[in-house]
Amino acid sequence: MDSFSATVSRMAALEARVASDPGRFRVLTGERPTGRLHLGHYFGTVRERVRLQGLGVETVLVLADYQVITDRDTADNGATNVRDAILDYLAAGMDRAATTIFTHSSVPALNQLLLPFLSLVTEVELRRNPTVKAELAASGRSLSGLMLTYPVHQAADILFCKANLVPVGKDNLPHVELTRTVARRFNDRFGAVFPEPEALITRAPEVPGLDGRKMSKSYGNAIALSMTADETAAVVRRTLTDAERRITFDPTGRPGVSALLTTAALCTDSTPEAIAEELGNGGGRALKEFTIEAVNTRFAQHRRRRAELAKDPGLITDVLNAGNRRANEVAEATLDEVRAAMGMNYSAP
Ligand code: TRP
Repeated sequence: MDSFSATVSRMAALEARVASDPGRFRVLTGERPTGRLHLGHYFGTVRERVRLQGLGVETVLVLADYQVITDRDTADNGATNVRDAILDYLAAGMDRAATTIFTHSSVPALNQLLLPFLSLVTEVELRRNPTVKAELAASGRSLSGLMLTYPVHQAADILFCKANLVPVGKDNLPHVELTRTVARRFNDRFGAVFPEPEALITRAPEVPGLDGRKMSKSYGNAIALSMTADETAAVVRRTLTDAERRITFDPTGRPGVSALLTTAALCTDSTPEAIAEELGNGGGRALKEFTIEAVNTRFAQHRRRRAELAKDPGLITDVLNAGNRRANEVAEATLDEVRAAMGMNYSAP
């Protein structure tokens, strides 16, 4: 069994442990602030975080600004992207009082963990990471030191707060595996400091974009959570379908049609096959109208709340100041433990 299917089969047992003892778990997850959050983020992890919060699990969210510059030169529009993400987190139902939301660049002690962690992995291991390989190929650039090592930095994101549960899509699974390796090797070499966090793979790990490829802002195939109903209609209507009137779910042969079916199914808690059946010989036009209605209905409340939150001029600064302060406290405490474990606490008596 490959590591993905092995993880999926562990999920039911993990879910049961979380539900029976939510106080034992701390979630860390997050994303790169590269643009507005879209349906892929929502069905991939955002709604999962809200569900875990509802069970009583503490949540820490990283806006991974140093990960933005893995495949591009600059973190353009960083402040806007951070603001947009926070608005979507809160609109989706994250509780700002109970959630720590922070940015990499504001937490020096987290970044410092990268140095000891780098000593625990080899270049060969880093080069094997399938997600790094795919991102490198997509970037069309040569491999930067940060692109090669950002999964180790991601281990620092997770371990600085001793998170033990990481809800992620399939893409991030190799990074969680690496985090477990780093934690285990650190503990073996220097003494028990870190938990070995578990990945929680979401039920909709890959949401197709409107062209059937992975939904991504850079492919221009995404429906942003913050789009208006009209903007949603416009992007959905641009989807390339085909002349065949009978609607069938065939992701390889009919990527556009199938992406719309999957999107509509996610938004209505149905299946692509059931919607195809319902639409019968309705053709691409009916499929598009069905999908537009499904997305706009599903996100109407989210969008209303988001617009409300956006009116509060001090909200984002308050949330970030509180989150960054808290993340710094936690990171400094962990770094102190790491120094002590490594025999580097020179000021101690
Ligand atoms: N790599 C994640 C992404 O695909 C973002 C991220 C950064 C992350 N640090 C993390 C996810 C820690 C989970 C845990 O955008």
